[in-house]
This record gives sequence, C-alpha cells and structure tokens, in this order.
Amino acid sequence: MNAPQSDVIRSAFGRFATGVTIVTALDAEGRNVGMTASSFNSVSLDPPMVLWSAGTQASEYEVFASCKQFAVHVLSENQTDLSNRFATPGIDKFDGTNWKMSDRQLPVIDNCPLCLQCETIASHQASDHRILIGLVIDVDFNSEEAPLLYYGSAYHRLGDPI
Ligand SMILES: Cc1cc2nc3c(=O)[nH]c(=O)nc-3n(C[C@H](O)[C@H](O)[C@H](O)COP(=O)(O)O)c2cc1C
Repeated sequence: MNAPQSDVIRSAFGRFATGVTIVTALDAEGRNVGMTASSFNSVSLDPPMVLWSAGTQASEYEVFASCKQFAVHVLSENQTDLSNRFATPGIDKFDGTNWKMSDRQLPVIDNCPLCLQCETIASHQASDHRILIGLVIDVDFNSEEAPLLYYGSAYHRLGDPI
C-alpha cells in the first residue's frame, strides 16, 4: 500500500479542529523563547499532565526539546495577531508583547485566557517533532474570552453549542 501524499495528510490532519496556544520557556542564557503551537492537548487529570510537540523547523527547537519547564498560553479569538507573531521566524517575538517573569522563572504573556506552567516530565522524539509531556504546576485563569480555534489551516471562532 502506498503512503498517502503529504497534501492528503495535510488536509486530513486539518479536519481536526484545535485551539491555539503559545508555548514559552527560557534558554540557557535566560532569554525568552516562544512559539505558536496547536499540537497542545490534555493527557491526564490526576496527576494533571499535558503534551505538545515542537518541530525541528522551529528556530528555538533545541531550547524547547531540552527545557525543564514551559508555559502554555491558550489564546482568545482576539489574539490572532499574537498567534501570527509567535509563528514568525526571525523576529523578536516578545518585542511589543506584554509579559512578565513568573515566580517560577517562566515568561508569562499578559491577557491570555489561560496560562499553564508545567514541568517537563518526559519527552519523545517522533520523526521531525519532539513530543513534550508536562506536569501542570500552576494554573492561571485570566479572562473569560472565547478561544481561538484552528481548522483547515485557518483561524475560526467558536460557534453555538449544539
Ligand atoms: C496556528 C499555528 C499552529 C502551529 N502549531 C505548531 C506546533 O504545534 N508545533 C510546531 O512545531 N510548530 C507549530 N507551528 C509553527 C510554529 O509556530 C513556527 O514554525 C515557528 O514558531 C516559526 O518561528 P520560529 O522558527 O522562530 O520558531 C504553528 C503555527 C501556527 C500559525
């Protein structure tokens, strides 16, 4: 059996709607790093665990692949610019972004509906991505704004409950 072509796989994976997050961490010199990631998912409630995957194409891939902790920010429908900014290579993503350093020494971006600070407890290489599994150590609800969704390679808003 032939493997499906990459455009088929891309549109197949695009049928799965996700939220949009920005994951941040510190590099070895204490500089902020961050990237937009829709691969985030919850894993377990007790203990509270989450996962996301970082692709080797990301300029800060090595930092994320080896970081001991990271912060996941769930974005609202009003934060498409922020999402695009943190998916743009070659710029200072934090320039013009309001953020503060948390007590746990993680860069936390202001005004995101939810921020989860996590300790990396496992990671697995999977082809050109590294799956990072984190234990949630801090939960910060910041706003009740509706989430930003990603579906079919485009941003969407949440519809009415069915
Ligand atoms: C909505 C959206 C979701 C993304 N999700 C992921 C992801 O889960 N994992 C990943 O490695 N890259 C993901 N990317 C791409 C990275 O954000 C992008 O490659 C990277 O941050 C580019 O900038 P950098 O090279 O400076 O990191 C996503 C991009 C967008 C716009």
